[in-house]
Amino acid sequence: MDAALEKLLPAAETPPTSIHGAMRYSVFAGGKRIRPILCLEAARIFDENISAALHPASGIECIHTYSLIHDDLPALDNDDLRRGKPTCHKQFGEATAILAGDALLTLAFELVGATPVDAERRVAMLTEVATAAGTVNGMVGGQMADIEAEGKRIGAKMLEYIHRSKTAALIRASVTAGALCAGAQAKDVTRLRKFGETIGWAFQVTDDILDVEESSAALGKTAGKDIAQQKATYPALYGLPRSHEIANELATKAIAALEPYAERAARLREIAEFLVLRRA
Ligand code: FPP
Ligand code: MG
Repeated sequence: MDAALEKLLPAAETPPTSIHGAMRYSVFAGGKRIRPILCLEAARIFDENISAALHPASGIECIHTYSLIHDDLPALDNDDLRRGKPTCHKQFGEATAILAGDALLTLAFELVGATPVDAERRVAMLTEVATAAGTVNGMVGGQMADIEAEGKRIGAKMLEYIHRSKTAALIRASVTAGALCAGAQAKDVTRLRKFGETIGWAFQVTDDILDVEESSAALGKTAGKDIAQQKATYPALYGLPRSHEIANELATKAIAALEPYAERAARLREIAEFLVLRRA
């Protein structure tokens, strides 16, 4: 994935060098690459040759990185630390960080659109990714609701909406885009979408848990922020023990969607297990 991103991102020497330097700084800051790996492994179920899926996988990692850059801005979560390094705006200033985020979001669609597969698959992937990044049950909508829920008492339904929109949608799109790229049939795309949505939800429940249980050093970002900012989280609503149970139940449900693929989905199953067991 790193090699693909290295090739597909504009070189640091390309003018304006400041924006390309900032984009590269955040993309290569040491993220786990979970979304692109999910995309590649979903593709592998339907086609052993996964090289075309490097395009949507890279595009989605660009969208994810843009979301972190903007999430960290003073007007949003206002954070100094991300992926163990100073946040993009701390390193390059706010104007450059805003533009680096915009540029990564735009580049994502350029990359997905340039995937070396037929036009029908490319259009299907573009729609999938655009919807997931958008406002209707998508990442921006979830982020808006997340901000508006700060300091408020919200119920289980709203919390579920926030987590499924701000985080699960892009993870779902990662898996679905991989399947679409590899030419999966409609019924398989539906199954993979279900897997992605459910494991994405489990991923954000785990993220909430880690914010309480882990240190900033372990997470590479400021720990304990959710309580400090009175965020709507699973531990806040259900407590830690029940949150762990919910994450595990969701992961089990996600893995069940992979049943028809038996051994072909072994890696995807392993990643799903890792996503709820991870400590960072
Ligand atoms: C950590 O991912 C990120 C999340 C759990 C997603 C949280 C959602 C947002 C920040 C949405 C922001 C949206 C906008 C529009 C600003 P990770 O653990 O995979 O991080 P890594 O790539 O650093 O490993
Ligand atoms: Mg946030």
